[in-house]
Amino acid sequence: MAKAAADFPTLQTRRLRLRHFELRDAPGLHTCFGDADAMRFWNIPPSKSITETEKHLIGLRKTTSHYSYLAWAICTKSNDQCIGMINYHHREQRNRRLELGYIVAPSHQRKGLGTEAVAAVLKYCFKQLSAHRIEALIHPDNIGSIRVVEKLGFRCEGGPLIDYWNVGDKYLSAMIYAHINPTK
Ligand SMILES: CC(C)(COP(=O)(O)OP(=O)(O)OC[C@H]1O[C@@H](n2cnc3c(N)ncnc32)[C@H](O)[C@@H]1OP(=O)(O)O)[C@@H](O)C(=O)NCCC(=O)NCCS
Repeated sequence: MAKAAADFPTLQTRRLRLRHFELRDAPGLHTCFGDADAMRFWNIPPSKSITETEKHLIGLRKTTSHYSYLAWAICTKSNDQCIGMINYHHREQRNRRLELGYIVAPSHQRKGLGTEAVAAVLKYCFKQLSAHRIEALIHPDNIGSIRVVEKLGFRCEGGPLIDYWNVGDKYLSAMIYAHINPTK
């Protein structure tokens, strides 16, 4: 793990540092995963306790293979406080395709930080991973997330994909958005 963590692709933006998760990030991550409203359109139910969030954090810390899945802690540059999470997943190297997931703590939303984090990971995936197609699956009512990807050049390709995610005792549907790298 030590070597993998050293190889981790930390990303910097104007206001954010996207880095490998650390165990001390549990309270920050819990402001996201423990918030029922922020988790309204997520594909797992909100954490009932910080212990549950800590289990997710252990999983997020392990994702250093750089192959099919990688997660970054979204941190403020000023004090390195974790205020969210962004990942790519379902990466298919053969098809040069992957999906993005992201969440920002409610107290930090609507300040442009979600767009800033997604823009940085989008650039990383196109340039460093040579992705051709980057997808985001978004619930039709998730206006904030739709606005983020549309601002960054994603196009809606279809949907809703009915009952796409099984979340606790219900199903959620998804629209499919994609951004194609025109140069590769
Ligand atoms: C989606 C999410 C990451 C956006 O983060 P954010 O930091 O608030 O996004 P930004 O501040 O960069 O906002 C981008 C645009 O969306 C708009 N926006 C954000 N949230 C909005 C909301 N709830 N309703 C309407 N517009 C919203 C902003 O006003 C901004 O538009 P503008 O540039 O035209 O003013 C955040 O809302 C979130 O964490 N949601 C819960 C988790 C989630 O659903 N993740 C996505 C799963 S697909």
